[in-house]
Amino acid sequence: MVPKIHSLGGYIHEFQKSIANPETFWAEIAEGFYWRKRYDKILEWNFEEPSIQWFKGGKLNITENIFERNLYTIGSQPAIIWEPNNPEEQNRILSYNELFEEVNKFCNTLKKLNVQKGDRIAIYMPMIPELTIAMLACARIGAVHSVVFAGFSAASLADRIIDAEAKMVLTADGGFRGEKITPLKNIVDEALESCPGVETVLVYQRTKLPVNMVSGRDIWWHDAIAGQSEECKAEEMDAEDNLFILYTSGSTGKPKGIVHTIAGYMVYTAYTFRNVFQYNAGDVYFCTADIGWITGHSYIVYGPLLNGAKTLMFEGVPTWPDAGRFWDVVDKYKVNQFYTAPTAIRSLLALGMDHINDKDLSSLKVLGTVGEPINEEAWHWYHDHIGRNRCPIVDTWWQTETGGVMISPIPGIIPTKPSFATLPLPGVQPVIVDAEGIELHGNSVKGNLCIKFPWPGIARTIWGDHERFRETYFSNFKSLYFTGDGVQRDEDGYYRILGRVDDVINVSGHRLGTAEIENAINSHPLVNESAVAAYPHPIKGQGIYAFVVCGELSTGGEEGIRKSIKMAVTNLIGPFARPDLIQLVPGLPKTRSGKIMRRILRKVAEGDASDLGDITTLLDEDVVVKIIDGALVEVKR
Ligand code: PRX
Repeated sequence: MVPKIHSLGGYIHEFQKSIANPETFWAEIAEGFYWRKRYDKILEWNFEEPSIQWFKGGKLNITENIFERNLYTIGSQPAIIWEPNNPEEQNRILSYNELFEEVNKFCNTLKKLNVQKGDRIAIYMPMIPELTIAMLACARIGAVHSVVFAGFSAASLADRIIDAEAKMVLTADGGFRGEKITPLKNIVDEALESCPGVETVLVYQRTKLPVNMVSGRDIWWHDAIAGQSEECKAEEMDAEDNLFILYTSGSTGKPKGIVHTIAGYMVYTAYTFRNVFQYNAGDVYFCTADIGWITGHSYIVYGPLLNGAKTLMFEGVPTWPDAGRFWDVVDKYKVNQFYTAPTAIRSLLALGMDHINDKDLSSLKVLGTVGEPINEEAWHWYHDHIGRNRCPIVDTWWQTETGGVMISPIPGIIPTKPSFATLPLPGVQPVIVDAEGIELHGNSVKGNLCIKFPWPGIARTIWGDHERFRETYFSNFKSLYFTGDGVQRDEDGYYRILGRVDDVINVSGHRLGTAEIENAINSHPLVNESAVAAYPHPIKGQGIYAFVVCGELSTGGEEGIRKSIKMAVTNLIGPFARPDLIQLVPGLPKTRSGKIMRRILRKVAEGDASDLGDITTLLDEDVVVKIIDGALVEVKR
């Protein structure tokens, strides 16, 4: 079993131990897992290359740690509780024994289709149990899964398939989300026009939408698994073999394939799940994220299942059939731990109390939030109306690259403070540095958030581009992992995340690079150039404000062009990346050397141009005046 912290004294003790001797600290936790062969060395690392290896020489399979290690005690207990989009449809509950059989069947299916250890499998699926089954089957046979969020467009899916050199795609005919049906298989077909390396597509029938099955390439899931054995021996894997690739956005255009390896990720997600949610045997845990993002990987699939937990997987959306859906689910299954994003909290807050008052939420013990800073109003609403003043809020700060939660209260143990992620978990050594990389010691400081020592869940590389990995995370500040976030440490030593300090925008908890959105906008034939900035948005946290220079206007005029720009972004990235505001401008503020002065655009988008700083290098000041005059938000001058 993974050890659990029980008291503030216990936290302090574990934290100090983890700093004084991180190797021993993590080795003791790793003891609780099943290793085919014990590791030779706990940690080998340097942040220069960088090279990070945990539990080197160890042999294991992560699925043996989910199944074989636990089945004799929890085999008949629910593993996945699946709530469908439509509350009238039958739910599905898979026990650990049943899930194990399904995973094994799918392992044998993949093997029959010639999937080998190390092959990459792209997964583009709705939130149904088969998505989890597919991930675990990949892990069991040593294939590397690359889940692509099913809201991404065909072009984005194709980019990811090509970059990962995936030879197989797992998908469904379609996916239900509220009243909408997304034609997933059609999107895959379009993506595959540019992916000649894909040999096989397995299609799960979920919606009965008509689809075109390409002969020799496409196979129905139910046909493929028919007659497969429910037994499959797990592949023996190296501790540092790749477990999965998950793409995320950065400041440059091309998405980065973040690579996580097996043993470190296993130990880290299992430990953090148990402690951050104070999960106890029998509890029902519900994370509302999509498995297409890291939160779903670590805290719907791996973390909970490694702890033998009951993990609730929800196919739908918070506002359908009505805005009480989350609370219906909590009430129906007597959920104990609930984990969601600030954007969901803000959107439900705005819809009033009618959908909440009649729900029994008394089972809740812990409320979690993740993905973006939570404002105080949302924090208090969550605490007072959902937690009914009884449940601690865990504001968990972490990233795709960190694999698991890094800074968070331990509920009931570390006193919370609205909008503060509070303190680092044991094993996490945050430091704050100024622009020059000088460490800011003591309390009441603000700067760039870095981590100075590796933890087992840290990403190991960017798929196919280790130099980019080094450059992005390890070159800004010597011998430190740079998170890209700004942070404050207050007078009590508590951490508050202030948001990104790079060209990354966080829209409803979705991480998007400004360059990525600009590339999509610039693909529009009438657009000459563009620049994107974030502006404060009451629900989404940050909205996307695009400043666009067009050569001429189409027949639809300004409105027409705005619409078609949004369409271009939807087609190239997905609907969640559509700009909220598009201002057509005569030019962008540039320096004499032709560099866009983004600082000015950020200020305008934030509605405060009273202090634009040094603009002496600006080529044409008149452009700035025109941009402010035509701004789509109120701007203080
Ligand atoms: O800016 C931080 C923000 O989300 C970024 C990571 O995004 P992603 O890799 O998509 O992972 C999201 C889910 C783990 C971070 O760099 N972020 C995440 N959690 C918080 C947060 N900002 C403030 N408070 C948080 N609790």
